[in-house]
Amino acid sequence: MAQQRNPASAKVFNLLLFIFFFSICLSRPATGEEEHTWQEAFEALGIAWNPDGTLNRTVQIPMVPPTPSINPNDTAQVALSTDVFGTSRPYRLYRPINLPKNKKLPLIIYAHGGDFVLFSVSTVIFHNFCNDIAAQFPAIVVSVEYRLAPEHRLPAHYDDTLNAIFWVRDQALRIRPRHPYLEHADFSRVFLVGSSAGANIAFHVALRSLDFNLWPLKIKGLLLNQAYFGGENRTESEIRLKDDPYVALYVNDVLWTLALPLPANNRDHEFCNPLSGGSYLGRVPRLPPVYVKADYGDPLVDRSTVLVEMLRFYGVRVVYQYGTDGSHGIEQRNSTAAQELYDGMKKFIYSIGEYAETEGNYASL
Ligand SMILES: *[C@@H]1O[C@H](CO)[C@@H](O)[C@H](O)[C@H]1NC(C)=O
Ligand SMILES: *[C@@H]1O[C@H](CO)[C@@H](O)[C@H](O)[C@H]1NC(C)=O
Ligand SMILES: *[C@@H]1O[C@H](CO)[C@@H](O)[C@H](O)[C@H]1NC(C)=O
Ligand SMILES: *[C@@H]1O[C@H](CO)[C@@H](O)[C@H](O)[C@H]1NC(C)=O
Repeated sequence: MAQQRNPASAKVFNLLLFIFFFSICLSRPATGEEEHTWQEAFEALGIAWNPDGTLNRTVQIPMVPPTPSINPNDTAQVALSTDVFGTSRPYRLYRPINLPKNKKLPLIIYAHGGDFVLFSVSTVIFHNFCNDIAAQFPAIVVSVEYRLAPEHRLPAHYDDTLNAIFWVRDQALRIRPRHPYLEHADFSRVFLVGSSAGANIAFHVALRSLDFNLWPLKIKGLLLNQAYFGGENRTESEIRLKDDPYVALYVNDVLWTLALPLPANNRDHEFCNPLSGGSYLGRVPRLPPVYVKADYGDPLVDRSTVLVEMLRFYGVRVVYQYGTDGSHGIEQRNSTAAQELYDGMKKFIYSIGEYAETEGNYASL
């Protein structure tokens, strides 16, 4: 744990820290950075802006319904899922098909990816991800249907995910009848998990949650997969991979403009650049252990590296896993890379506390 510091020296200290981390891997904007219009970015994203400020989203990734029962035609099915409504936001819940006997499972609260602007719990790539982790860890998963920008700018995403934590706490306290899936959850072993923008959300929500009494929940860890962060200055990897097919630099710039609170003109906003987190840096030492997954073929990799350095500096326990040539969202396209990710996350989750893994004690419900 980092030592307590008084506020004035902490301020100077934070400033020095900030400059130090930036000097590690940030440099000037690339000269000769090509000009792109925001219309090009909108085309790349499959979005169109209506005069009333709402977006039409025409991304060609299918949405799928939950699978609450075993479908005998689907031999690949590994988990059950169901949607919960009537809460502040809808949630999609997952449980493995086979539940261990007499044993509760870790509880995952999951924030999907999509640059804060796109996608849903029902987008097939995130639905499959949740099915996989529910079956493999195994775990009970609560995937949050948070609101999207620009109709709802940050911190709406953080608020909705924090509310999901409160909903789970109320489930633990049986304030309302408990959902049957959550009967299998160990509320003292909660993990926040996010992919891409979801990892940014998980990070901020973990920090915010420190201000609340969540008893009897215990957030034991934070898992960040290819976290979506940014900043005004470009990193080496952002410049090297600026035309990346998944997260091109000019597209990211437009996305931050859509997602950040108005006037949304500064990517050193604390929601975007974790090093400028003036209002929350003091809370960082109180974070639970953090798992960081990044890939050298992802323009965002340097942002994760800087985050790992910062967390370590503040005394947070960090486990990081870097893939050599994976690109952004590699787990959606490469099953070997997906398995490496699942294995890394599972190892992290089971390394915390006394949660000994026992094989061969599973029974179908
Ligand atoms: C968005 O979709 C609506 C309904 O399909 C359509 O009327 C409108 O023209 C679209 N807006 C843009 C900017 O394409
Ligand atoms: C399984 O496939 C059969 C034959 O195609 C079909 O009649 C049945 O409705 C399917 N069951 C489910 C649960 O989809
Ligand atoms: C951005 O880079 C410039 C030039 O290297 C530097 O002067 C400035 O301090 C950097 N800004 C931040 C916020 O690190
Ligand atoms: C898939 O990922 C694995 C592990 O990261 C890597 O070794 C392999 O080359 C990748 N396959 C393809 C086709 O990219």
